Amino acid sequence: MSALEIGQLLYEGKAKRVFSSADPELVLVEFKDDATAFNALKKAQLAGKGTLNCCISALLFERLEAAGLPTHYRGLFSPNWMVVRPVRIVPIEVVIRNVAAGSLCKQMPIAAGTPLDPPLLDLYYKDDAFGDPLLTEARLMILGLVSADQQAEIEVLARRVNQVLLAFFAAVGLRLVDFKIELGFTSTGALVVADEISPDTCRLWDVHVEDSQERILDKDRFRQDLGGVVEAYGEVLKRVQGACPQARVYQ
Ligand code: TMP
Ligand code: ASP
Repeated sequence: MSALEIGQLLYEGKAKRVFSSADPELVLVEFKDDATAFNALKKAQLAGKGTLNCCISALLFERLEAAGLPTHYRGLFSPNWMVVRPVRIVPIEVVIRNVAAGSLCKQMPIAAGTPLDPPLLDLYYKDDAFGDPLLTEARLMILGLVSADQQAEIEVLARRVNQVLLAFFAAVGLRLVDFKIELGFTSTGALVVADEISPDTCRLWDVHVEDSQERILDKDRFRQDLGGVVEAYGEVLKRVQGACPQARVYQ
């Protein structure tokens, strides 16, 4: 445990809480055991999920950092608390799809499992009240959330994140089907990857398993009532730790 003290609750989301610390350049993120899907229509408590997602995210942020990609991550505070830089989150969810799955297959005549090359990048407006709708270029322009240059910077960074994560997961027998990231601007205006990268926000299939349900090691197990959610997340952590055993503790 590091010497930082937990301050005021700044923000509570569906899976995390963000607290201030005495250092204005650091905030603390608590990963909760709450699981939600379909804009929180489906809810459950999954004991151990917070710790698993926090540890997996920490190791993945360290991986991105090692590849020269900027993130908000500073280190672990405890197994389910992370120390991060405060950022102004861009209210855009960036989804990269390497393989067709999920909403793409519900909205288009494309079979699940179809490889997408080049990977498809979809932008969604991050607002639960509107159900996180898919954005078009024109809608993004009307909202004025980011400049054209910032949008380009976001897309380039997201695609580089995909390249690093794709290769990393492939090396531990996991197929990165798709994922969502959120990005933010630091106090100095730098764009960084923020939020989390975990089986809550990625689709991961075990490459050694043929069965289309058994191979799922991500939140689809919860969305589709397949059971074994925490066990699947545990398997992801085990694989990730096989490549990089321990996340650093912030000090
Ligand atoms: P989708 O196929 O439902 O659009 O999801 C694409 C990816 O984004 C998938 O890896 C799950 C992730 N995701 C989130 O992290 N949060 C969300 O609210 C949604 C809808 C998807
Ligand atoms: N994260 C969203 C929710 O909590 C949706 C999802 O991941 O399926 O409802």
